[in-house]
Amino acid sequence: MPKTRSVFICSVCGQEHPKWNGRCNACGSWNTLEEAVVEKRTGNASAPKATLTMSKISGVDFPDETRYKTGMSELDRVLGGGLVKGSLVLLGGDPGIGKSTLLLQICSSLASGRTVLYVSGEESERQIKLRADRLGVDAEGLYISSCTDCDAVCEAMRSEKPDVVIIDSIQTMALTDIQSAPGSLVQVRECTGAFMRAAKALDISVFLVGHVNKDGGIAGPKVLEHIVDTVLYFEGDKQLSYRILRAAKNRFGSTNEIGVFEMRDKGLSEVTNPSAMLLSGRPAGISGITILCAMEGSRPIMAEVQALVAKTGFAAPRRVSAGFDYNRLCVLLAVLEKRTGYSFGGYDVYINIIGGLKIDEPASDLAVALALYSGLCDKVIGEDIAVFGEIGLGGELRAVSHIRQRVREAARMGFDKCIVPKSSLKELDKSEDYGIAIYGAANLKQAFKVLEAVAGEKKE
Ligand code: TYD
Ligand code: MG
Repeated sequence: MPKTRSVFICSVCGQEHPKWNGRCNACGSWNTLEEAVVEKRTGNASAPKATLTMSKISGVDFPDETRYKTGMSELDRVLGGGLVKGSLVLLGGDPGIGKSTLLLQICSSLASGRTVLYVSGEESERQIKLRADRLGVDAEGLYISSCTDCDAVCEAMRSEKPDVVIIDSIQTMALTDIQSAPGSLVQVRECTGAFMRAAKALDISVFLVGHVNKDGGIAGPKVLEHIVDTVLYFEGDKQLSYRILRAAKNRFGSTNEIGVFEMRDKGLSEVTNPSAMLLSGRPAGISGITILCAMEGSRPIMAEVQALVAKTGFAAPRRVSAGFDYNRLCVLLAVLEKRTGYSFGGYDVYINIIGGLKIDEPASDLAVALALYSGLCDKVIGEDIAVFGEIGLGGELRAVSHIRQRVREAARMGFDKCIVPKSSLKELDKSEDYGIAIYGAANLKQAFKVLEAVAGEKKE
């Protein structure tokens, strides 16, 4: 019998400790150490010496990576152009957000001409079948199984050699020779390792579903993210129907891309024109609303910024922000006060980006600042105006990236005017007709003037 010993692993950062502690020395989290039993490593003098093989980088031959199309172009784009053969993809998200639905839906296309094994530790085969029927999934090469034994799944991968394996979810899988309960840190880590080895050795693509813990990370340590090739997060407000898929890590593509889906009664459908979706239902004639063109990866997306500026009843006015960085909001308020003379001291300020969208690029500054200005002065900003620009601490507008794509997207979505930083104008092609009037502003005050001028035009 091999000798065993106990170690304590932090469930947040994965640091191993020889003794239990109330607090993790590495990341400082409290009460996160879990006990794990590991085999003692014993030195064996008679074992053959390990050798390292080296290759010259120019001499390494590689076949073109094979990518499977999932039948959902939104997912393919986030993956970097399709599911890479032999890769391990972790899909995280809150319970009920649609992870199982998404993965079952892509089986339709993945399993035509290939074999796909869908293993669920959460649902019975009948339940999977019922769901598949509802989603209209019926492919020749799709096999389902209800199982929680990690070894059994790896054995099936070896003997049946499916092209794709879907594990729903990693928290339900367990290795029988590890004593911890399924979902515990050690089980999750060891099972992921086992799937990784099987995926690489057999060249099988594996999707792992991972539940998200209360802090928003995938339950289990960060180490999980180090093991796998790609980490995707499925986000969205459960009350709203749309869902956004983001890559947090991708060894085979960019992490800037997002995929947008809508949950319908027949499963998830792709939203290929998210701007139209996000702009629908926009109220007219209300102050405090601006439209921004944000870049999500290589894709421009129009988003609506709403600001509510209301007289405060508190000693310290409230600043609340949803979808926009709170500290950035405070900076913008300070810049507005200092550089343009508008005072928000006696007002509560609420910022909301519609659609549950999270915007974290500097180009959104101008839209937020103008929404605040509009809300404070109760001046309505025309519905046909889009704005983008970064604001410096001096109140100046700084150039933004991808100006051409943003302007084109605004024109495509039917906007007539856009306000951009003056310094971005030179990047616009003089010869191209963008089909939209472009106004350059050097600072916030000039942007206000442009707003007034275009509002005057409208009245005539
Ligand atoms: P599910 O994929 O089971 O979530 P997860 O695997 O991430 O926990 O999604 C469940 C939710 O999706 C459930 O609240 C109902 C909704 N749903 C639909 O609206 N339409 C559908 O066709 C399906 C299958 C689910
Ligand atoms: Mg599920």
